[in-house]
Amino acid sequence: MEIKQSEFIISAVKPQQYPTDNRCEIAFVGRSNVGKSSLINSLTNRRKLAKVSGTPGKTRLINFFLINSSFYLVDLPGYGYAKVSKTEKASWGKIIETYLVKRPQLKKVVLLVDCRHKPTGDDIMMYEWIKHYGYDIAIVATKSDKLTKNELVKSEKLIRETLKLEKEKRIFYFSSLSKKGKEELLDNLFDICEDIQG
Ligand code: GTP
Ligand code: MG
Repeated sequence: MEIKQSEFIISAVKPQQYPTDNRCEIAFVGRSNVGKSSLINSLTNRRKLAKVSGTPGKTRLINFFLINSSFYLVDLPGYGYAKVSKTEKASWGKIIETYLVKRPQLKKVVLLVDCRHKPTGDDIMMYEWIKHYGYDIAIVATKSDKLTKNELVKSEKLIRETLKLEKEKRIFYFSSLSKKGKEELLDNLFDICEDIQG
């Protein structure tokens, strides 16, 4: 698919602030700093559509981006960031959960994991949870520019084992630095919303 147009619509905390036009949504979840916002910028060919930062915890609200005037990409706050207070963690968790639990127009959840690390307990929980709610899931391993070919092979094995992925389940490797893997993502992530929009 080609993204010709992308537009920031709203930052939301509460469901009352979510878009109400019933367009199809694809959400990006993962640990803080894993590269969710960077991936959205890469896919849309925009440098600053979603705010990116070296400091974890940049995205604190749910940001909705309208794509080709037809569906939304949804940038969620990251989880697992150690340096925030318990109260703040609980509030982020609630923001993410409230959105994911009851959102009929949400058609796919893209789970990002850092290819350099073993998926964390939070990642496993998130994966199980998304499956439990019956959402279509795509797994993206980010920052692939940081590993050699050999290391990438090991990384895939570790991610598969840790998340207990089914054999057929594909992991998309991606680098927002080199844009390697971008075409595969454009070809595979959005079909579900394209079909719905006709
Ligand atoms: P939160 O908003 O805190 O949840 O983080 P996020 O998941 O949106 O991460 P973000 O896109 O802000 O990226 C975090 C940091 O990782 C930034 O410094 C990015 O430049 C860097 N980064 C993201 N993707 C890649 C990648 O593919 N390769 C490399 N080398 N760095 C990356
Ligand atoms: Mg972000």
